[in-house]
Amino acid sequence: LKIAIRKAREADYPAVAQIQGACHEAAQWPLGDYSQYQVLLALADGQPVGFCVWRQITETEAELLNLGVIPAARREGVGKALLQALEKNARGDIFLEVAEPNVAARGLYQGAGWTEEGTRKGYYEGGTINAVVMKKRSWYSPG
Ligand SMILES: CC(C)(COP(=O)(O)OP(=O)(O)OC[C@H]1O[C@@H](n2cnc3c(N)ncnc32)[C@H](O)[C@@H]1OP(=O)(O)O)[C@@H](O)C(=O)NCCC(=O)NCCS
Repeated sequence: LKIAIRKAREADYPAVAQIQGACHEAAQWPLGDYSQYQVLLALADGQPVGFCVWRQITETEAELLNLGVIPAARREGVGKALLQALEKNARGDIFLEVAEPNVAARGLYQGAGWTEEGTRKGYYEGGTINAVVMKKRSWYSPG
């Protein structure tokens, strides 16, 4: 697979929504919400297969809000490529929350050098599932 990552434009949102819909563990956001954030789109052989939504919170902190790769394109390095593009675009420390039972996502983040900072008890599904808070310290970040 030839993987390419680029910033998503408004015209890409339907493709992003379709990918999101195919990713049950991803947060299911209304289309309109994307325009408030930064969205990266992953293409495999020219086809949209993955996305990542994030925001710069302050000058030294960013947050990964949503990430997904269609099932047919998983384990090909698309998720990893999206995280690398995020790190290039975001400034400072990047934080995220991931559901404790989400083995695939936690494996991806761990392999990409993210560290576990703590848990938020009962964060998902009406208090039944914990969130793990993870952080990636960008090497140029202050402190
Ligand atoms: C998590 C997700 C984005 C990973 O995307 P991906 O493109 O398959 O990830 P990659 O191919 O880049 O995987 C890189 C590494 O992550 C780890 N990993 C990925 N999927 C894994 C799985 N199912 N089990 C264990 N480790 C996994 C592996 O270490 C993998 O390297 P390897 O394939 O050489 O072993 C994808 O599974 C997904 O869309 N899941 C549903 C949505 C979701 O959970 N989003 C995260 C919300 S916080």
